[in-house]
Amino acid sequence: MPLDIPGPRGLPLVGSLAAFARDPLAFCMSLREEYGDLAYFRVGGHDVVLVNDADLVGHVLKQKPEAMHKDAIYELMRPLLGNGLVTAEDETWRRHRALAAPSFAKRHVDSYAATMAECGTAYLAELEDGETRDLHDDMMDMTQEIALRTLFGGDLGLDVSGVGPAIATAMEAFTYNAHGPGRLIPDFIPTRTRRRAAEGIAALDALIYKAIEGRRALGLGDDLLSRLIAATDDEGRGFDDVQLRDEAVTLFLAGHETTALALTHALLLLHVNPEALTWVLEEVDADAGPLDATALRRLPRVEAAVKEAMRLQPPAWVVGREAMTDLELGGYHVPRGTQLLVSQWVIHRDERYFPEPLVYRPQRWVDGSTEALPKLAYLPFGAGPRICIGNHFAMLEAVIGMAAILREVTLEPLGPVPPKSVPSITLRPVEPSPVRVRRRT
Ligand code: HEM
Repeated sequence: MPLDIPGPRGLPLVGSLAAFARDPLAFCMSLREEYGDLAYFRVGGHDVVLVNDADLVGHVLKQKPEAMHKDAIYELMRPLLGNGLVTAEDETWRRHRALAAPSFAKRHVDSYAATMAECGTAYLAELEDGETRDLHDDMMDMTQEIALRTLFGGDLGLDVSGVGPAIATAMEAFTYNAHGPGRLIPDFIPTRTRRRAAEGIAALDALIYKAIEGRRALGLGDDLLSRLIAATDDEGRGFDDVQLRDEAVTLFLAGHETTALALTHALLLLHVNPEALTWVLEEVDADAGPLDATALRRLPRVEAAVKEAMRLQPPAWVVGREAMTDLELGGYHVPRGTQLLVSQWVIHRDERYFPEPLVYRPQRWVDGSTEALPKLAYLPFGAGPRICIGNHFAMLEAVIGMAAILREVTLEPLGPVPPKSVPSITLRPVEPSPVRVRRRT
């Protein structure tokens, strides 16, 4: 039975699959323009509702986890992520979240600031005046190094350099199955991409189990893996090795590309908006303080530059849920099994919330104009019980990284800003993002 919510009729059987697959961002924007706060469409066999109003978003994302599971797309991540926090549901998720949460307490995350600053400094040491770099590649390398060092610690004597490539191979298979030709090929057929992904995952597993073993043998430190190994519930039970593997892969994957995207876009957008750049550099140049956890408090303009970049180019452009029970939404009946999409891309560009929504203006985050926003008009980290566990980690890393870079260099973007991106799980550039480096000192 089609839902009563207005939306495009689409074609028999496939619904709006072609329009959605061709350009999901434009498709979702057009739905909001045409149908408003709620729009219903069909993709393949799924009923989908796009939710475009901040209050209704709260109604979806703040439900109990048992009432809203992740949507169908996350199943495709399971071969890689297992039952880690991003993919786990119900009791497993609840237990894992409770066990992992203390490791992300502010004081623990703040202790990683030194590693973040060291990786920023190491990156800057590579840069030469006048050279051209691919900024997103550089930011991926930097955040990957930070993720590896904070996750595994530096003292294992273990070569974890294979983790990144193994995960990248597995992610190729995800994109292929979710958005590419793999959509049309039954799961049980072992195509070349799927075989390579399976090999990548096997290599990754071997590496991570070795890291867990190494960490237990060496003694626990203050890295995230050690904290997860030490975590116990009220009955003294903790994560077993398979669960530790799933959480380690999940944290690595969920943490580094998203933050690299935030940094890439913030740096590019700043450097094509001279007024905003001058405004931010004023603050950076007046600050000689250490790049530690106090940087977040001392550098509100840098933070605003990152927040504004995540508004316009949200690293996670959509979060999806599947209703596990019938519900009422905006006066409509939404039956169990409906897929509900909340798109940061769409909501962050709504002029009811952000005047001149397409203009990059970091000042809006400190001049009071965003103070009266409905709470969920801005949600780069999601909301409700499944909100990003790494949000403080990410903001600290992004502000320290930005400040380290802006102290030393300015960048001249040589390609389009923002770079052409495709929305997969994240909104990632598909072309290089070349910049010419100018040393400031
Ligand atoms: C700018 C950087 C980041 C962005 C934009 C981001 C965004 C998000 C979003 C939107 C969600 C919610 C997904 C949903 O509700 O379906 C999420 C969940 C998650 N994020 Fe992040 N994230 C970032 C950085 C990080 C970092 C640094 C870590 C870890 C170190 C991390 C770990 C996680 C985990 C484990 C979850 C699943 C939480 C759960 O369901 O309990 N993220 N992230």
